[in-house]
Amino acid sequence: MNDLYQRDCLRLLDFNSKELKKIIFLAQKLKQNKKNHQEIPLLKRKNIALIFEKESTRTRCSFEVAAFDQGANVTYLGPGSTHLGKKESIQDTAKVLGRLYDGIQYRGHCHKTIETLAKYSQVPVWNGLTEKFHPTQLLADLLTIKEIFPNKKFHEIKCAYVGDTRNNMGNSLLEAASLTGLDLRLVSPKECWPDKKLFRLCQEKYKNKKGKITCTENILTGVKNVDFIYTDVWVSMGEPEEIWEKRIELLSAYQVNASMLNLTNNNKVKVLHCLPALHDQKTIIGQSILKKYGFENGMEITDDIFQKHEQIIFEQAENRLHTIKAILVSSLLKTIDF
Ligand code: CP
Ligand code: NVA
Repeated sequence: MNDLYQRDCLRLLDFNSKELKKIIFLAQKLKQNKKNHQEIPLLKRKNIALIFEKESTRTRCSFEVAAFDQGANVTYLGPGSTHLGKKESIQDTAKVLGRLYDGIQYRGHCHKTIETLAKYSQVPVWNGLTEKFHPTQLLADLLTIKEIFPNKKFHEIKCAYVGDTRNNMGNSLLEAASLTGLDLRLVSPKECWPDKKLFRLCQEKYKNKKGKITCTENILTGVKNVDFIYTDVWVSMGEPEEIWEKRIELLSAYQVNASMLNLTNNNKVKVLHCLPALHDQKTIIGQSILKKYGFENGMEITDDIFQKHEQIIFEQAENRLHTIKAILVSSLLKTIDF
C-alpha cells in the first residue's frame, strides 16, 4: 500500500523527509509523462472540491488542470459561494463535503479552518494557502531547485529568503529546509522574523543535516555566496491596505535588486518568486501602490531583475501543476508505483 494514501497536506511537516522526496520524485515522473504525451489518467471518477476564500491564479488552475489531466472532476467553491462558517459550521460542511468528494482543497484566511476540515471530513485535505503555510508552493519550489541542481544534495544548496520572512512562505520555507537540509537564511528586520516556536521546531528537526537555518538582519551576511535569492510580496492577501506604509519602511532595504545580487558574490545566482510579483506598474495594485510610495521600478523585486530571471520564475509557476498532481495522485490512490 502507498503510505501517502489518504494523507492530508496542511503543512510540509505533515510529511517526513523520505515522503517529501517521494512526492518530488513522483512530480518529476508526472511532468515527464505529460511532456512526452504519455500521461495515464489514474484518478477517473474521483471528485475534488476546491474551496477558495482568497483569489488565486496558479493554485486554482494547477488543481483544476492536474485533476482534468488525471481524469478527475472538480467543483470550484469561490468566495461567498458556500455556507462554510456563516450559516453552517465548518465541522458540518466538512462532514457533508467528505461524503460527496474524494478530497478537498482549501485556500483561506484561517489555518484553523483547514485543520477543522481535515479533522471532520475523513478525506484528504490539501492546503492551497492559509495565512500560516503554503506547502504546495514549496513542493514546486523544491522541484525547481532540484531541476537546476540535479546532482547536488539540498544541504549543498544555499538559499536566502528575503522580505517578510514570517509570512506563509517564510514558514513553509523553514519547514522545507528542516526536511530537506536546504541551507536557508531568512533575511529581514527582526520584526519580520518567524514565530520563535516554529523556528525552534524546524531547527530541532534540522539537527542531523549538514547545512543550517539562520535568521539575520544583515543583508550581506544573509546573501553572501547563495545559489538562490527568493522573495515574495511584502503585504500578503488578507492583510489590511494600511499596513503598506509600515511594511515599506521596514523592508525597502531588502528589495531584490542588482545591488543585492552583487552582494552574493555569485554571478550565477538564481532568483525565485512564488508570484504574483509587484515588479512593474502593469497592474491596478502596482499602479496605485508603486506610484503612491515612489517605487518606479518594482517593489519587492525590481523589474530588470525579474525580467532577467523570469525563465526560472515561470518554471516555478508551471511546477505548481506537476507537484499538485503528485499530491492528488499520492493521496487518492491506494497503490502507486513510485
Ligand atoms: N503562488 C500562488 O499561490 O499563486 P496564486 O495566488 O495565483 O495561486
Ligand atoms: N505571501 C503571499 C503568497 C502568495 C502566493 C500571500 O499570502 O499573499
